[in-house]
Amino acid sequence: MAENQDLYKKAAAEKAVEYVEDGMVLGLGSGTTVYWLLKRLGELVDQGLNIKGIPSSLRTAGWAKEFGITLTDFSEVETLDLAIDGADEIGPDFQLTKGGGGSLVREKLVNAHAKQVIIIADQSKMVDRLGNFPLPVEVLQFAWQRTADKIATLGAKPVLRERDGEVFVSNNGNYILDCAFGSIENPHALHNELKLLLGVVETGLFIDMTDKVILAGPDGAQVIN
Ligand code: 5RP
Repeated sequence: MAENQDLYKKAAAEKAVEYVEDGMVLGLGSGTTVYWLLKRLGELVDQGLNIKGIPSSLRTAGWAKEFGITLTDFSEVETLDLAIDGADEIGPDFQLTKGGGGSLVREKLVNAHAKQVIIIADQSKMVDRLGNFPLPVEVLQFAWQRTADKIATLGAKPVLRERDGEVFVSNNGNYILDCAFGSIENPHALHNELKLLLGVVETGLFIDMTDKVILAGPDGAQVIN
């Protein structure tokens, strides 16, 4: 299954490249699906495609450089032509949970400043209701325990993210709380409630931020909206 899942991620990423046009400035998402996007874009750049990208994480920036993709930033660019990004869950109305890789703040900023956002994923990411995947919430390091207490009052069990036995620190110098809500009935309302809590920087709920979803499975990659 893991091997197939990788093939599906690659198929979704390669389909998304069909929407990339010469001269575009792209938002480059984060995660293992986006890795395949960057690899394919790198091949096209070698063949003469002229694009620039704003990366949504340091990891993406590293891959993009490795594949020869020119990078830029928001000091030079006001609006991106197209952002392509992955997701952890794709729920009803194409609302998303993101942040599994810890890049939710930069991903949200990049996607918010793009004319169009395409989400690429293998079919396992499509769900009837968001919430099975614990919701990543980026919080300030200072008083994170008290921020976690407040989030818990909304019905979650926040867990401080760790990697390799160390507390995970985001590219913005913040902590991530993985918040198991179980089932999120109203993603929009939950996002708004979380945003009002002192110490919360951003949530992994991406509401009304998706223009197109490309899902891939055994039958190939399809645009599903
Ligand atoms: C990172 C993200 C990724 O888009 C999400 O985790 C999906 O990753 P992958 O493509 O590796 O399954 O939100 O913060």
